[in-house]
Amino acid sequence: ELGMPATSGQVLLADPRGYCAGVDRAVITVEKALDLYGAPVYVRKQIVHNKHVVNDLAARGAIFVEELDEVPVGATVVFSAHGVSPAVHAEAAERSLKTIDATCPLVTKVHHEARRFAQEDYRILLIGHAGHEEVEGTAGEAPEHITLVERPSDVDALEFPEGTRLSWLSQTTLSVDETMETVRRLREKFPQLEDPPSDDICYATQNRQVAVKEIAKDADLVIVVGSANSSNSVRLVEVALEAGAKASYRIDDISEIDEAWLDGVKTVGVTSGASVPDDLVQDVLGYLGERGIGDARAIRTADETLIFALPPELRRDIKAAS
Ligand code: F3S
Repeated sequence: ELGMPATSGQVLLADPRGYCAGVDRAVITVEKALDLYGAPVYVRKQIVHNKHVVNDLAARGAIFVEELDEVPVGATVVFSAHGVSPAVHAEAAERSLKTIDATCPLVTKVHHEARRFAQEDYRILLIGHAGHEEVEGTAGEAPEHITLVERPSDVDALEFPEGTRLSWLSQTTLSVDETMETVRRLREKFPQLEDPPSDDICYATQNRQVAVKEIAKDADLVIVVGSANSSNSVRLVEVALEAGAKASYRIDDISEIDEAWLDGVKTVGVTSGASVPDDLVQDVLGYLGERGIGDARAIRTADETLIFALPPELRRDIKAAS
């Protein structure tokens, strides 16, 4: 290191980072719907939890609404990647809306599990964050059967009548380690607890956490690109800190970087949440490069090849139009 300028440093770039298969599919769904039906196309909730993606699609003619009563009768509406409850599907039918469901197939899988456990009269402990759209959608599949568990310490207060059949499910974008801790405590208190048939925390969430741990242990600072309402992005900051990063911050884009974060920093880890376009990450690398932290090395911990087909109702219309 002798003779290097005092400001020089290196970047460890997490790989995988950024777009997952479900986000990619949801964004393309809105783009194709705009091409096919013309603007405006309504989208219930943010299609994915990223400010830049939403602003970009809005500029192209997507109209984002919170609830379906804001959508004119007979119009086309896209459901976001986070999924919707059966009540929302019913409301759409009532208002004669044309719906395109961009719910991530890995969220739909959790909905199926919720329905199945409910049919068999289980009490379902849903591990997730209150108020998150995905949790509202999943809970809406079996509202009578679901108890929300937000964190490991919530387990202490849970009580169920003797003989209650118990299972658990989770939001797809949680911290793997914290969720396992919650499940461990649940099992300790309720030995009859039954596992879901497969992991609910999705491959993309898991892979991004493994990658950020790998870079965080050697980083003075980890910058996570992602929006404040993006669950998986916020988790990456927590995981980075737990894995040994001296500091970690989440930013929507480079305008939110505080130059003081770089004081005395030699190694900067960079990653991004599953809803983040990679040009925002490239901007971070440019920003760091201009400040002498230009030697970027990708740290690859997994290969991702999963691609989801577009929603069948959209594919059908694309085919009919061609
Ligand atoms: Fe789906 Fe996981 Fe992405 S649930 S939308 S693949 S973060």
